[in-house]
Amino acid sequence: MAILVTGGLGFVGSHFVWAAAARGTELVVLDDRSGGPGAAMPAGVEVVLGDVGDEVEVAALLARKRVDAVVHFAGRIQVGESVTNPSSISTSTSVARSASSPRRAARASRASCSPPPPPSTASPT
Ligand SMILES: NC(=O)c1ccc[n+]([C@@H]2O[C@H](COP(=O)([O-])OP(=O)(O)OC[C@H]3O[C@@H](n4cnc5c(N)ncnc54)[C@H](O)[C@@H]3O)[C@@H](O)[C@H]2O)c1
Repeated sequence: MAILVTGGLGFVGSHFVWAAAARGTELVVLDDRSGGPGAAMPAGVEVVLGDVGDEVEVAALLARKRVDAVVHFAGRIQVGESVTNPSSISTSTSVARSASSPRRAARASRASCSPPPPPSTASPT
């Protein structure tokens, strides 16, 4: 199973990437680096430089990596930007549209709602 992490180079997204990679999950990050150079990524995680608003690229990425779930962190953190310069905020619906087949949508929904497994209760010997 591959997970597409949008905004995976950012503050919140990169924490998700490191946690998911530690569990052995296959990941691909889509980020346009508009938030800066971004965090270091774990070895083996492919980073695609691009805009989540680019529907063609997103659709191609979903197909190429056989993505089963999308975790969406790409966003502008400064709320004021949407008021002072709303046209600078690209529409970011293409991920949802491209991933909206019933199978992908269901899996994406489950992935975003599932709690992490409980910590191991085994005591060290
Ligand atoms: N930081 C917090 O404490 C916090 C708390 C609650 C919710 N959030 C939300 O989590 C999300 C991520 O926040 P963050 O703090 O990690 O922000 P961030 O700026 O650190 O990360 C956002 C990432 O998204 C990328 N990005 C922005 N627009 C993009 C686009 N069109 N296409 C591709 N990549 C794009 C940026 O380059 C950046 O790497 C935001 O929606 C934010 O509102 C953050």
